[in-house]
Amino acid sequence: MFKKVSTILAVTAVSTMLAVGSAFAAPITIKFSHVVAENTPKGQMANKFKDLVAERLGGKVVVEVFPNSQLFGDNKVLEAMLLGDVQIGAPSLSKFSRYTKSLQLFDLPFLFKDMVAVEKFQKGPKGQEMLMSMEKKGIIGLGYLHNGLKQLSASKPLKVPADADGLKFRIQASDVLAAQFVALGAVPLKKPFSEVFTLLQTKAIDGQENTWSNIYSKKFFEVQDYITESNHGLIDYLIVTSTEFWKGLPDDIRVEVKKALDEALEFGNKVAAEKATEDRQKIVDSKRSEIITLSDAERAQWVEAMKPVWGEFEEEIGKDLIDAAFASN
Ligand code: SIN
Repeated sequence: MFKKVSTILAVTAVSTMLAVGSAFAAPITIKFSHVVAENTPKGQMANKFKDLVAERLGGKVVVEVFPNSQLFGDNKVLEAMLLGDVQIGAPSLSKFSRYTKSLQLFDLPFLFKDMVAVEKFQKGPKGQEMLMSMEKKGIIGLGYLHNGLKQLSASKPLKVPADADGLKFRIQASDVLAAQFVALGAVPLKKPFSEVFTLLQTKAIDGQENTWSNIYSKKFFEVQDYITESNHGLIDYLIVTSTEFWKGLPDDIRVEVKKALDEALEFGNKVAAEKATEDRQKIVDSKRSEIITLSDAERAQWVEAMKPVWGEFEEEIGKDLIDAAFASN
């Protein structure tokens, strides 16, 4: 009898300890590292995700956001994620070529005519398949986020491709982007985003390509006299996590985290659409940089100069992907 009572007491004590233990279990921490400012589509999306998770999973999951390359820059974030030092990253689609060649698709110049076409492709079957293109390398794509179309900025006016001849341009770490500037007779230099302002300010480089929101939020327009409204390429993002982290989450938590992320992405895409117009206007109003608008004939020259890059990368990327993306226009 005594033995039975003491067994019951022991079992009760253990269950109480477990219950108390789980009530006080440390929350799961999601470190989200990115390289842009907080007043950008990606910065705002990350903060929204953090708020939604706090609201719905407070005490169970905590999101910590590290903007402006504070924690990891372009070159390190994916490695850090695979090592478990960061749980979510959102590199530009141009920064994955060490892990997959297919995402190089998004760097092809003049592939998408506008963001509607980009959205259509990303939501379509090929775009969705590409989310998992790095699964074997331990990386899962959780969704796309827009920033917008790229413009060319430089220390001299760029109206036709010949104007770029011999100039040094900072590019993201992408062979497609390198080929694009080589096709213009220019010199591409792969440099991290965090170094661009200083490189422009010290005139170590002559120009760069980026979206209105990045040009504005990082003040590139203050150190570049001209911006050609070329809309020649895309900067969008892939929100990524490691397969190990994602599959290790309890099922109910994973579902809620994904829901919060999807909502944050929808919000971020709205911010992207607004910023493409607002930040352009702020640059116009600042009168620090002249915006060059291309005539149809001038634009046709840029297309003609850059388009051969498609052929160079067709085999690596896959003709089926290029055709599907182009068909979304
Ligand atoms: C980013 O928008 O995340 C950075 C883009 C760049 O490296 O130019």
